Amino acid sequence: MNNNQPIGLFDSGIGGTSIWSAIHALLPNEDTIYLADSKNAPYGQKSKEEIIELSIKNTEFLLNQNAKIVVVACNTATTNAIKELRAKYDVPFIGIEPAIKPAATHSRTQTIGILATKGTLSSELFNKAVEIYQETHIIEQVGEGLVQLIEDGQIHSPEMDKLLHTYLEPMVEANIDYLVLGCSHYPYLLPQIEKILPKHIKIIDSGEAVARQTQNVLREKAGLKSEPGSQAIFYTNADPKVLSDILQHRYEILQKDF
Ligand code: DGL
Repeated sequence: MNNNQPIGLFDSGIGGTSIWSAIHALLPNEDTIYLADSKNAPYGQKSKEEIIELSIKNTEFLLNQNAKIVVVACNTATTNAIKELRAKYDVPFIGIEPAIKPAATHSRTQTIGILATKGTLSSELFNKAVEIYQETHIIEQVGEGLVQLIEDGQIHSPEMDKLLHTYLEPMVEANIDYLVLGCSHYPYLLPQIEKILPKHIKIIDSGEAVARQTQNVLREKAGLKSEPGSQAIFYTNADPKVLSDILQHRYEILQKDF
């Protein structure tokens, strides 16, 4: 089945571009529309009802742009709103959730760390996933302040380093051998995180798994694009500079009040 409509993606801000990159690398011919709802970031501190409302608004925007599938490139929106989105719309949804399974399955110390937003860690979906791995000690840490600093263009700031040390050092002391990045913004912090963690600790994010899942769902349900060449459109409702910086100025950013 062929379908030349674009893939739609949204996140509370610029972090979901880490998911966009994985999807674009695997499916380079697909057209994409990315929506950064940076005006409303961070989602991590908002109530479930607010996150659902914002996720509906973002989905409507992407469907109005003719998206054939919606990738919720945000753990917080997935864990709080994907059930409601799937119930409301016919289009297929791909979500992103913290990759607990590979970490818990492969851990030798039976101790893993997870860094995510408060909204993700307190969600029912996440807590159900955690229940499966009763034998693994899962250290949950809210990454308070990290998303805001990334959205403010402060990735390489002393404040960021300080927060990361505060969040990660207790996990190292507790002998984790896997760290799960449970927020699509956090892969942009990898260079700093790798400096703090000893080399034997493996870091996992969900980008490639989401890309593979998107490919499977396109093959089975929505259809892959038949023509070569692709167009990527990025929308933001805040200052476009931060989104442009994170994409290394390779794409045009459209600013729109949505
Ligand atoms: N990228 C979002 C996530 O994956 C960030 C959430 C937020 O805005 O707090 O959870």
